Parts: sequence; C-alpha cells; structure tokens
Amino acid sequence: MRAAIEAHDAGADVALVSKLHPTRSHSGAAEGGINAALGNAAEDSPEKHAFDTVKGSDYLGDQDAIEIFTAEAPGDIYQLEHWGCVFSRTPDGKLAQRPFGAAGSPRTVFAADITGHVLLHVLYEQVVRRAIPTYEEYFAYELVVDGGRCRGVVCWDLMRGGVKALGGKTVVLATGGVGRIYQATTNAWACTGDGMSMALRAGVPLKDIEFMQFHPTTMYPSGILITEGCRGEGGYLLNKDGERFMARYAPNALELASRDVVSRSEQTEIDAGRGVNGSVLLDLRHLGAEKILERLPGSRELAMTYAGVDPIYDPIPVRPGAHYQMGGVETDDVGATELPGLYAAGEVACVSVHGANRLGGNSLMETITFGRRAGKAAAEQALSDSAPADVPESAVADAERAIAELVGRSSGERPHAIRDELGTSMLDNFGVFRREEKMLRQREIIGELRERYRGVVVEDKGDVFNNDLTQAIELGAMLDIAACMLEGGIARKESRGAHARPYDYPTRDDESFLKHSIVTWENGGPKLGYKPVRMTRWEPQERKY
Ligand code: FUM
Repeated sequence: MRAAIEAHDAGADVALVSKLHPTRSHSGAAEGGINAALGNAAEDSPEKHAFDTVKGSDYLGDQDAIEIFTAEAPGDIYQLEHWGCVFSRTPDGKLAQRPFGAAGSPRTVFAADITGHVLLHVLYEQVVRRAIPTYEEYFAYELVVDGGRCRGVVCWDLMRGGVKALGGKTVVLATGGVGRIYQATTNAWACTGDGMSMALRAGVPLKDIEFMQFHPTTMYPSGILITEGCRGEGGYLLNKDGERFMARYAPNALELASRDVVSRSEQTEIDAGRGVNGSVLLDLRHLGAEKILERLPGSRELAMTYAGVDPIYDPIPVRPGAHYQMGGVETDDVGATELPGLYAAGEVACVSVHGANRLGGNSLMETITFGRRAGKAAAEQALSDSAPADVPESAVADAERAIAELVGRSSGERPHAIRDELGTSMLDNFGVFRREEKMLRQREIIGELRERYRGVVVEDKGDVFNNDLTQAIELGAMLDIAACMLEGGIARKESRGAHARPYDYPTRDDESFLKHSIVTWENGGPKLGYKPVRMTRWEPQERKY
C-alpha cells in the first residue's frame, strides 16, 4: 500500500492487487512497533540505529542500504503520524518509544501493541482517499514476462474464479514472507512465499534465503505472536525452576538481546529439560495490571483466548517460532530487481538491511521506507516507458491451460499432507539449530515432497473460493523456497545470525562466508552463487549482548 500511494502521488496510473482484503495483511501481526531514531526517550541518532542494525545482522546486511534506511525512517514516521497513525505518546505529547531487542536506545515507536494493525488502517485510508483501484481477493501467482521485461501479473480471482491477467509497465511485489513452510510459525495462513517463487521462476535471484528468523515469544502450541514489546516493557523469561535464564546467555541485554540469541537460549533451556511442556515462561506479572492494560492489551487478550492464561496473574508459555524471512528477492536500494520492470519491497525483498538476523521493529519500518522508494522508482520507470503494457494473449491461455490441467486431475494425493510434512520436517531439520546430517536429510525430504507434489489432486472443481486450488498452487511455491533455503544453508559452513550450527561450525567465519548467498532456479532446481557484502564504515566485530 505504501508503494502504491507513492507511485500514485508520482503521477502513475496504479492498481493494487491483494490476495486478502488489504487491512487483513500479515503486517497486522507486527505488534510491538516500528523503529526510527527520533530520540524521544533517550539520546539517539540514525548512525546509532544503523550500527545496531549492522551488528544485529551479524555483519551480513549491506551497510549502504542500512544507512539510507535509518536516515529516512524518522521522516517516514512523521508522515505516518500526519496521516493519522494513533501512536502512543509521552506525557508531554511526543511520540513514545519503547526499548526493543538489540537496540542501543529505546527507539521503537508504537501504538500500544497493535502497531501493524494501526499502520494498515492508515495506509488503507490513504489508498481509498486516492481512489487507487484495488483488486482484492485476487491471488497473483505468476509474472507476465514479455520481451525481457515484466509486464504484469497473472491472478486467480478468488471470489468469482477464473484466470485474470493485469498488465503493468512495472510491478512492485509486496507479497510478504514464507513462514508457513514451518509448522510452528507466527505467520498468517497466507504467508506462503508466492512473490518469492514468482520472481524465482521468472529468473530473478533470491538472496540470503537460508536465514529464517525464529521469534523468541510465540505462544505454545498455536504459534501466535506475543510481542517483543512485552520484554521491552520489562517482561522476564523464566525456566521451569523460576530462573531468569537469560542472565547466563546475555548478561548485559538479558531478555533484550537480539532475537537469534534469545531464541537459541530458550531452545537450549527446553532441550536441556528446563522448559515447561516444550516452552519457557514469559512473566509480566511484576509489570502490574495498569501497565499491562495500557501498553499490552492485545497480548493479554491473545494469551487469555489462545493459552487460557491472564498475564496479570500467570506467566505465558512461549517458545521460538518461525517469524520472518531475512532473505528474499534481490533488489537494489529502490527495490529494482534484475528483471526490468520488476520491483520488490518488504519481507518478500532482500535489500538487504537485515542480513543474518533482523532487529524487531525494523520490518514495519522497512515496508514503509523501501515501499515508498520502490513505489517512486516504479512510477518513474513506468512514466518514461512509451510501450503499451499489454499482456500477451498466450500468457493468459497458458495459465488457463495449466489450471485446467491441475483441476482436471481425477486422482492423486491432496496437498494438505504434503504441506503438513513440509512444516514438521522443516521445524525438525532446519530450525533454531542446524546439523549437517539433518539438513542433508531435509533436502532429500523436500525432493520427495516435490515428487509427490507433481501428482496432487484438487478435489474441489468449483470456481468460488476454491481454497483447494489456491493451496495447491501455494504449496508449489513453498516447496521451491524450501529447496532454496536448504541449498543456501547446507553450503554455509559457519554460524551467523539465525543460521546456527553449534555442532560442526559453531563460530562465524568472515574469511569464507562474509558474503551473500544468491540462489537462482535452473533446470528445475536451485543453483547457488555468492555476492560480496557492501560495507561502508563498520568492520566486523565479535557480537556480544
Ligand atoms: O514482536 C513484535 O512485535 C514483532 C515485531 C517485528 O517482528 O518487528
């Protein structure tokens, strides 16, 4: 939505295509806040924000992109405020900022614990105000490529059925992440990597795709996110003995160490038998009812509804869950990809500001700052392109034929079992900790699942909300991305950020692996290469919290 608004304001004729109604987008699950160095709670600067992001990325983030990001973030926040974002305030009326993990200053701007939800609604208002046409419940699953340029998207109309192709001189992918390839995830059902897979199949590389972030506080067993804002407001993590165990792993930052560090610490406690039914405990009781009700009302409601626990009186069981894909479609700092006419922004993209580990609060900011930049660049390119944005008839005919073939199958395996096996095996074999033999086995499993996928059957033959069909298409995307993740992970023989190999390569190896993985799709499978990390002013150091 941020890209569409900017493209519209730059004079382009824009349409928005969304698998969901836009305010149901998964950004609504980013609860705790959005990072910008406003300096309202303590001294801060874009340089400090940049350094924290570089360090958090375990030095894999591109420092030029990070510097652009942190310099432009404050202006973007004020624009959101002027558009009507109801951010929480300090007593003297400034935008309040709370501490978040691995941040050297409290810089997370927030709206209680529903920040993403508030942003979605404000952006949607701006879309409506501009009368930007919105094709909602249109499932985009293929790019139109003609004459070496991206010329639109092929969609399935979820409400009415049928293939619909939308032409465009430029396309901005903003389709989010792929957390649903894991069984334990904060991600909405819709987060199936569609945009990453579309780009990959159109020949565009994915960058750093082996880095999946596990958020430390996801509810057991549902995987629903309990925001980092709970720890930002002072929440503790306890093991079964009531010990505040983070003191052993991150003696300075404790619960506000970076997410990779906290998730590994929790998993170590759970694996050592010091957990409680596969979880640790998030204790907010000492914050008191007043603070919980003012700052964390959404988290309380989620805990009561989905874990049967009122955090005013009892700790919440939490465990690490797949949350955010640090890698994605490789872009430059205005979102442009290798394919002329194709741009990407947000979680689907890898600019890269997150490297091997993202800081909490940086993802909402990334969607805004790089969404704006991508929208502007895409509009400028479209406005300077005099060729028509027609979709070739063959693109529609080919898509219709492929759907008819899939729906026309009368026997085969239904997709859900493959999806379930993908989710459980990814969690077992490519989770918080990674082992060589398990990763090799997981690569085989994905090969077997892809083989079974070739014969899936769609039992629902109807047009209206045919979830059977769309979930079959989504599964294909998820299997492709999982194959790419394994390729990158097996080859990365070091521990960096979210890629932790404590059993065989326990340390970071800058000499061999201070480089981005680049995966392309060739001859029906992933092919791995590398590119250098762009450094400006920060040399790699040992990372301690
Ligand atoms: O914990 C959270 O509120 C999540 C925020 C984020 O992933 O940035």
